[in-house]
Amino acid sequence: MTTAPSYTEACADWRRDPEAYWAAEAQGIAWTRPWDKVFDPRAGAFGQWFAGGMLNTCYNCLDRHVENGRGDQPALIHDSPMTGTVNTFTYRDLLGRTEKLAGALASLGVGKGDRVVIYMPMVPEAAIAMLATSRLGAIHSVVFGGFAAAELATRIADAKPKVIISASCGLEPGRVVEYKPLLDAAIALSPHKPDACLILQRPQAEAALTPGRDHDFNARVEAAPSHACVPVLATDPLYVLYTSGTTGRPKGVVRDNGGHAVVLWNSMRMIYGLDAGDVFWTASDVGWVVGHSYIVYAPLLRGCTSVMYEGKPVGTPDAGAFWRVIAQHRVKVLFTAPTALRAIKQRDPEGKLSRDHDISCLDALYLAGERCDPPTGVWAHELLGKPVVDHWWQTETGWPITAGFRQFGLFPFKPGSGGRPCPGYDLHALDDDGRELPQGSTGNLSLRLPLPPGCGPTLWQNDDGYRASYLADFPGWYRTGDAGVIDTDGDVWVMGRTDDIINVAGHRLSTGSLEEVLASHRDVAECAVIGARDELKGQTPIGFVVLKSGVDRSESDIAADLVALVRERIGPVAAFKDARVVARLPKTRSGKILRATIRKIVDGEDAPAPPTIEDPTALDELRALLAD
Ligand code: COA
Ligand code: AMP
Repeated sequence: MTTAPSYTEACADWRRDPEAYWAAEAQGIAWTRPWDKVFDPRAGAFGQWFAGGMLNTCYNCLDRHVENGRGDQPALIHDSPMTGTVNTFTYRDLLGRTEKLAGALASLGVGKGDRVVIYMPMVPEAAIAMLATSRLGAIHSVVFGGFAAAELATRIADAKPKVIISASCGLEPGRVVEYKPLLDAAIALSPHKPDACLILQRPQAEAALTPGRDHDFNARVEAAPSHACVPVLATDPLYVLYTSGTTGRPKGVVRDNGGHAVVLWNSMRMIYGLDAGDVFWTASDVGWVVGHSYIVYAPLLRGCTSVMYEGKPVGTPDAGAFWRVIAQHRVKVLFTAPTALRAIKQRDPEGKLSRDHDISCLDALYLAGERCDPPTGVWAHELLGKPVVDHWWQTETGWPITAGFRQFGLFPFKPGSGGRPCPGYDLHALDDDGRELPQGSTGNLSLRLPLPPGCGPTLWQNDDGYRASYLADFPGWYRTGDAGVIDTDGDVWVMGRTDDIINVAGHRLSTGSLEEVLASHRDVAECAVIGARDELKGQTPIGFVVLKSGVDRSESDIAADLVALVRERIGPVAAFKDARVVARLPKTRSGKILRATIRKIVDGEDAPAPPTIEDPTALDELRALLAD
């Protein structure tokens, strides 16, 4: 019997011979053609993994489990307190539905390399749509349901989908969100038009279909023949996921098929300690990378049962919802965002509602999306009496950069730390000139190239943008955009972004894109948006605007306009509720707005006037405004 390696041994194996390490890890995946090279350093922005190899990701998620006798095991449990339903799909069920949807998409002309945009709430059909697209060798791009029409339009214009799959509505506590009017508006705004839309009709709000373009999802699926898997190259894209960049335009992060399947399959055991048959619940949304990797692909690749939850941590119906789901479905590992725990803690500080449920099945809680603040980590640890593991990653990497590893034995609990680098990531803190800093110094967290398999190899049809965004600042390195420190034990402490990205309830937003919206208001001369510290959401955006001279409307009317404008252009997910009119913004002598200083003042931190400031009294004015 072989024993599992230790963390140190696994890292040493990888460092000694990275290609041999990844070739061994790739054995868990079924390939239709072996790779020519484990790593081709000459291809792509930094090289390509498993070049020449062929596989189908959907086959690895569904068909092979049915072929290997797992057909009757639950693959997906959809639990929706919003509709009061629980539906379980076995691997055989999920395969049957996916084959038919793939057939329906093929009948609409979708083939290898074509794009399919998926704009759906948390319904099982969203996961089936992702799998059916990958079955055809096509490329999906899921857009989070909380984005407004204009954001959806930007993504449609960039991805140029042949087909869009959507639903008539999503369900938020206390309101039905009609998706169809948002979809219609987005298509009208986009210069690219899809050939067809498949609309899942939900009984809470049926949508009128546009003749000639829209088709009823269920009717098309019913009528379609089953479609077989289409093998693709390991280096072909599986999906494009748009995420906030530092400009108003979102970045289309590409994920390729081969490396993605290899690392996700392995991460299920190495990080979460789970194997085929185990129940895993990731309480996130398929619109985010966490949902892509850990609601859909990783658990299915491994043959686990994945729980998909259409609800909130609180209010559906109460702060005991998470404990109910864990107990009812015998969840072994829960993965969620710290903001969800803070919401539960706020409503039920002593966690009394957890005692109504038998949650002894839970082995560990994993957190990501934002840094877990130590009080929340400690609260969860004491309440559950189980390991609480914060792990750090981003849309671009697709799987954790740092983590705690149940397969190797967890590291001692250090609240506030994101664990240690996963084997495959050579992580260092660099100074602003790109020099490696000694352990214990705070710097730009950066990864020495090449990135491991699974990490985004490029941006959609924008190799130059990829190089400029991530590789240009420090040659030979990928810059994560996070600042942090690696301590003498090797534990990594991620302290926050070095750019203008903020994190609101685990959702990544660009203050630049919020500023673009505010600046488009006819009365606004200039503006600054910062992320203010927030007890529940980690950060919330606050906008400071200077009005054009001669504007005679009331400040409160203008502030209300601005809040409505952000909701209309970006969507409710921006949680933009606070716009303040100021006489002027603090600036440097060269005219740069001092956003970092504004943020410190808003957060009540010590904020001395920087030597470059044009007029220090602007800071006093801001302090006085905030004190009112
Ligand atoms: N479709 C449409 N609207 C949506 C939506 C969706 N899929 N998801 C959220 N919204 C809306 C909400 O209804 C809310 O609207 P409102 O302004 O009318 O109230 C707004 O977007 C903000 O939503 P949210 O940030 O989720 O705040 P909330 O107050 O509704 O809930 C939490 C707060 C903490 C409970 C919630 O943010 C949460 O569960 N977060 C988990 C985060 C997460 O999973 N992150 C993924 C990365 S791991
Ligand atoms: P996203 O691409 O939406 O997953 O957001 C990625 C960003 O969220 C990272 O660059 C970090 O700034 C932040 N983030 C995610 N997880 C963590 C974590 N565990 N600790 C600290 N920051 C995190």
